[in-house]
Amino acid sequence: MVALLLLFLTIPAVFGKDVKCPEGFQHFKRTPTAKNNHTKNWCLGIFPADRLDERDRARSICANNNATLSLPENQKESDFIAAFSTKHNISETHAADGQTSPRCAARVYKAMKENRVFNSLAIKGECNLKNKYYLFDDSNTDPAFALAKIVDPPPNQFSTFWTMVTPKVYHFAECLTFNAQLIPKNATIPGYAGTSYCVGRPVGKVDQEHEFAEHQPEIKSVICGRHPL
Ligand SMILES: *[C@@H]1O[C@H](CO)[C@@H](O)[C@H](O)[C@H]1NC(C)=O
Ligand SMILES: *[C@@H]1O[C@H](CO)[C@@H](O)[C@H](O)[C@H]1NC(C)=O
Ligand SMILES: *[C@@H]1O[C@H](CO)[C@@H](O)[C@H](O)[C@H]1NC(C)=O
Ligand SMILES: *[C@@H]1O[C@H](CO)[C@@H](O)[C@H](O)[C@H]1NC(C)=O
Repeated sequence: MVALLLLFLTIPAVFGKDVKCPEGFQHFKRTPTAKNNHTKNWCLGIFPADRLDERDRARSICANNNATLSLPENQKESDFIAAFSTKHNISETHAADGQTSPRCAARVYKAMKENRVFNSLAIKGECNLKNKYYLFDDSNTDPAFALAKIVDPPPNQFSTFWTMVTPKVYHFAECLTFNAQLIPKNATIPGYAGTSYCVGRPVGKVDQEHEFAEHQPEIKSVICGRHPL
């Protein structure tokens, strides 16, 4: 009897390890691999706020929630983002983890200057999309799932500005976004990754050089991730 009781007392400790995420986050079990730093459990949350096309604001919202920018790692996590977006009537894309590395950004500027196409899917080495074209705040997410959801190989949005009296200045959309929406009566929820300029849409007066940012799509939510409690 005592042995049986002990058995029951130890079972929850071994098998039922209660993994909890803070309010506002949803728990996901993950397959630990070298690519997600052997993460077994992860909490994802979507947080609304204004002007999240400005990368520092998006990053700060996650920091305020003791989290970092993050990404869905598989279809189940992407479907959660779709369900949340539909429930909260968010049709805009979400700010998501991933920003072009400074070294690869420099190579994009060089290609722009030389009027060459830079295709991160085709390029060999460090700046290939599947290599280190993007750097991530979160080391607990394997970005392969989200990167496979990019429709146009990045960089895919550009702006160049110069006048007679100013230098030529290059801009391109360096930050990743992710969008998924439930489609009624459709079991397939695809999910799309896209790019946005990391600078926010201008607040107030817009000078000509920054007009490109005025026309970028609004982002009003961000995907954050953290370890469970
Ligand atoms: C991976 O996880 C280990 C243990 O949790 C941690 O010490 C290490 O800093 C993590 N690595 C990175 C790159 O975050
Ligand atoms: C973040 O962590 C701190 C310290 O553990 C805690 O006091 C605070 O309530 C947390 N904030 C949120 C939003 O989870
Ligand atoms: C959802 O958003 C759309 C466009 O932003 C708006 O027209 C509509 O009224 C919203 N619906 C609800 C239920 O909030
Ligand atoms: C359902 O999803 C598939 C795959 O994305 C798409 O081809 C199809 O057009 C969708 N059907 C409807 C009714 O939206």
